[in-house]
Amino acid sequence: AICEKSVRRWNASWMKFDGKGRIIETAMRGESMEHSQPIGIFDSGLGGISVLRELRRCLPHEHFLYYGDSAHAPYGVRERADIRRLCIDICTHMIECRVKAIVIACNTATSACVNELRALYPQLPIVGMEPALKVAAERGAHQRIIVTATQLTLKEQKFARLMERFQNEHTIWKQPCPRLVELVEEGRLHERDTLKETLTAYLAPYDLTQVDSIVLGCTHF
Ligand code: DGL
Repeated sequence: AICEKSVRRWNASWMKFDGKGRIIETAMRGESMEHSQPIGIFDSGLGGISVLRELRRCLPHEHFLYYGDSAHAPYGVRERADIRRLCIDICTHMIECRVKAIVIACNTATSACVNELRALYPQLPIVGMEPALKVAAERGAHQRIIVTATQLTLKEQKFARLMERFQNEHTIWKQPCPRLVELVEEGRLHERDTLKETLTAYLAPYDLTQVDSIVLGCTHF
């Protein structure tokens, strides 16, 4: 089932729903849908909001439809097939809302099924995310880099291929941080002590004086 709860809560636009609570029309405040089809953006929950913010900054004349699947978050601890099924449901629904492109504002969903989604909807531009390992590696020779992300992102083939490109020259550590996703979804980011304890526990195995970059490979971070 599609979760409209988070869309209602987080989309900065207005939208119309049909009898079953599904979105049938959406547009930015004070504007009409006829002017432009929206760009769909989705994430497992709230993480993609930062991507939406940046897109709105870069493309101020576009309409956006944001879908945060908080009802099924976190994705990072789910099976790949399960995430794929959830993403297909979301994309199908977005296509019913006449989106002209889809941004997967979720590293985990991208790792799990971006290729399948592109094959299923060849008419639609689909943009995914990947941890910014390249950016960290290009800061200099022999970089020491920690990549934080979800378990699924770090164990999928997509990330393995990305690592292959850089691991001969650089030292790369993979660090899953599932608790951070939960804290964000639970709206507990203001609990600084909890946050600090969580981060300290995840980073305890590393000597941070010897680390050049920490990649935030999850939109919730
Ligand atoms: N925001 C997602 C990402 O970028 C995943 C968070 C989750 O649901 O586990 O990977």
